[in-house]
Order: sequence, then structure tokens, then C-alpha cells
Amino acid sequence: MIQVNNITKIYKYSLKMKRELNTKETHRKAVEKLSFTVKDGEIFGLLGTNGAGKTTTLRCIATLLKPTEGDITVNGLDTVKDAAKVRERLSLLTNDVRLDPQFTPDYLFDFFGHMREIPDDIIAARKEELFRYFDVNRYADKKIEELSTGTRQKISLAISMIHDPDIVIFDEPTTGLDIITASSVLDYLLDLKKKGKTILISTHIMSEAEKLCDRIAVLVDGRKVAQGTLPELLEETEADNLEGAFFKYFRDNSKEVERWRL
Ligand SMILES: Nc1ncnc2c1ncn2[C@@H]1O[C@H](COP(=O)(O)OP(=O)(O)OP(=O)(O)O)[C@@H](O)[C@H]1O
Ligand SMILES: [Mg+2]
Repeated sequence: MIQVNNITKIYKYSLKMKRELNTKETHRKAVEKLSFTVKDGEIFGLLGTNGAGKTTTLRCIATLLKPTEGDITVNGLDTVKDAAKVRERLSLLTNDVRLDPQFTPDYLFDFFGHMREIPDDIIAARKEELFRYFDVNRYADKKIEELSTGTRQKISLAISMIHDPDIVIFDEPTTGLDIITASSVLDYLLDLKKKGKTILISTHIMSEAEKLCDRIAVLVDGRKVAQGTLPELLEETEADNLEGAFFKYFRDNSKEVERWRL
């Protein structure tokens, strides 16, 4: 279970960022007083436009960032005080694949297994299982630089799941993937749910949230403006689909509405 308790995250702009953004502001509030709970065994979705605060929230949960205010627990463990233990139980997946191009999937899998101090026989068994699942055995001894984006993505997923985490967090699972790879990634998440894993995703793709999520929280400008199952959100907004519901929430809550002329 993940419990996010009233977190706020404020970034301090570096001089470089101030120059790049051409702003006199010194800080940016990315997330404001955000609370939600992801129950064991469900797929929970954070739905929001660019800059809504999705990645910031996921990085706080995954112990990569500290919230400025509020706290987060993962299976009862505090993400700041017990960060190392939280990381043992959780995996943060992204599509920003950064595998060293010179190495092979086989080598990298072993390398990350050793980093996590997993015994060799377990590494071998997990590699066999995950490479078979993602159908990448035939690429195991090729260099990463020779592989297609979709194959790299699958290798990266396999490596991220090396420690068989109970909790899987995925920032925009299908962004940048072709339709076939995207579909296999979504099926993988549904398979993980069947195995009892707890899953949190972020997305701005409505169909993806509709297909995957048991419950959805809508983020606008760093704040949660709605939460519920798809039928609950549709009933509340009297919309026919999630896109319609999202527009209603955005229109009612965003400071940017004027700019977008909604
Ligand atoms: N390191 C940083 N320093 C300053 N501001 C940041 C930093 N990272 C993110 N922000 C700002 O915080 C806000 C939330 O960003 P975040 O990346 O969490 O949003 P997001 O919902 O993931 O957006 P996207 O859909 O573009 O990935 C944005 O306004 C962003 O510009
Ligand atoms: Mg993001």
C-alpha cells in the first residue's frame, strides 16, 4: 500500500533555469497538498497534462525526491527515513531508457542483479523468466546500441523488475512507444496486477487510464481535483468518457484555462 499524506513539493530554480525560463521567480510549486492511497493489488492512475506534477509525485514516492512538506509511506515504511528499505520493495519504471549502449542485455541484467546483491542463482532464474516473458532471448548477447527502441524498452523493463518488487510505479508507460510495444507493456501491467502486485501509473492518455486503472486521481496544476473509479468520475461530471470528464475538471480548476481558451 502507498499512502501519500498531504505532500507539497517546491523546487528552487537554479540560476540557469531562471535564465532559460526567463523568469524572476525563485521557486516553483510542483505539487500542492496532495493526498491519496494506492491499495494493495490495484492499478491506480495519476491523470494530468504536462507539468501537472505527475513525475514529481512518483519520484517522491520512489525516494528519489523528498517532499517539501507532508510524508509518504510504502507498506508502512517512510520514504525519507526508510528509503533503502522502500527501494527493496518498489520499482520506478520510465520510458527514458538509459542503458549503456556498449553492453549486452545479458551483462547488464547480471550487473544490476549484483548491484542489488541478489544471489547468482536467483539472478539466472529471474533473467530466464523475464527474458522469456518479453521475448528478448535472441538479443541477450547483442550490444544495446544495435537494438530497436522497443527492444531496449523491454530489456529495461526486465532489468527494472529484477528484484520482483511488490509495488510497481510506471511514469507514462506507453509514451514514445509504437502501438505494438505499447500494447504489450499495458498487457504486462495487467499481468502484474493478476499476480497481486500494487501498481501506480501516471498518464495523459485517456484510453490507457480507461483500460488499466481501477481508480484515477486527476491532477491539475499540482493539485488533486478529483478521484474515483471511471464510473464515479463519469457520473460526477455527466460525461460520456474520461476525456469529457477530464476537460470538465480542467476547465473548472486550471489557472491556465484562459490561455487555452477552453
Ligand atoms: N528540477 C526542477 N526544477 C524546477 N522546476 C521543476 C523541476 N522539475 C519539474 N519542475 C516543474 O514542476 C512542475 C511539475 O513537473 P512534473 O515533471 O512533475 O510534471 P508532469 O506532470 O510529470 O509533466 P509531463 O507530462 O510534462 O511529464 C512543472 O511546472 C515543471 O516545470
Ligand atoms: Mg512527467
